[in-house]
Amino acid sequence: MKQPYPYEHAPRLAPQGPIDLASLTGQNHGPLEIEIGPGRGAFLLDRVVERPDARIVGLEIRQKWATIVDDRLRAMGQGERARVYAEDARLVLPRMHPDGGVSAFFVHFPDPWWKARQRKRLVVALPLLDQIARLLQPGGMLFVQTDVVDRGEGYEVQIDAHAAFEKDGDEPGSARLASSPWTSRGNRERRAEQDGIPVLRLRYRRKA
Ligand SMILES: C[S@@+](CC[C@H](N)C(=O)[O-])C[C@H]1O[C@@H](n2cnc3c(N)ncnc32)[C@H](O)[C@@H]1O
Repeated sequence: MKQPYPYEHAPRLAPQGPIDLASLTGQNHGPLEIEIGPGRGAFLLDRVVERPDARIVGLEIRQKWATIVDDRLRAMGQGERARVYAEDARLVLPRMHPDGGVSAFFVHFPDPWWKARQRKRLVVALPLLDQIARLLQPGGMLFVQTDVVDRGEGYEVQIDAHAAFEKDGDEPGSARLASSPWTSRGNRERRAEQDGIPVLRLRYRRKA
C-alpha cells in the first residue's frame, strides 16, 4: 500500500484572497522580516534568536523543509513569533497587505536552476522585486546573496535598475558587501565559507 506523503500537512496559507501580514504570526507586534526560500532553515533558526524583538516568516516551496523548520521553531518556543509556510513566494507575496508592512527581506542562495526551460522558475525577477518594493517599509532592507556569481551579477543589474531601491553596500554607489553583516549563517553559506567559494552579497534599502 502506498504510504501517505509525510509532509502533506505542511503549514500553508489560505489558498486564495488577501493575506494580512499580521496574521502570519501569533505575535503581531515587532518588525516583520521575511526570508524567501529558507530551505533547511539554518539562517532563520539563528536569526530568530539573534533578533528577539522581530517576527520572522519563511516562505519555502518545499513542503518537507517548511514543515521541519516550522516544527523546530515551535520546539524552540518561538512558534508565536516565527513561522515557515510551504508556499511559493511568487504566488503569495502579491496577496499580502498592507503595503510597507515588512522591515526586511532575505534571499539567500536562490534559484538553483540552470536550464533555459527552467527560467520561468526564477525567484529573483521583476515581478517578485515589485512585490518586495511594495511590501517593504521606507528604509526597509532587501538582502540577496549567491555563490553563482554571474547570476548574482544579473540580480544586481535588475535591482540597481529598479526605481524603488537604493544601493546600500560597503562603498557609495554599490550594493555589494564584502562580508556578511549578519551573525546568522544559512546552510549554503556555511558550505561556501568552508570550501572558500566566493559569495556575491547585495544590500538595498527601500527608498522613502
Ligand atoms: C539553493 S536553496 C538555498 C536554501 C537556503 N536559503 C540556504 O541558503 O541554504 C533555494 C531554496 O529556495 C526554495 N525556493 C525556490 N523557489 C522558491 C519559491 N518560488 N518560493 C519559495 N521558496 C522557493 C527552494 O525550495 C530551496 O529551499
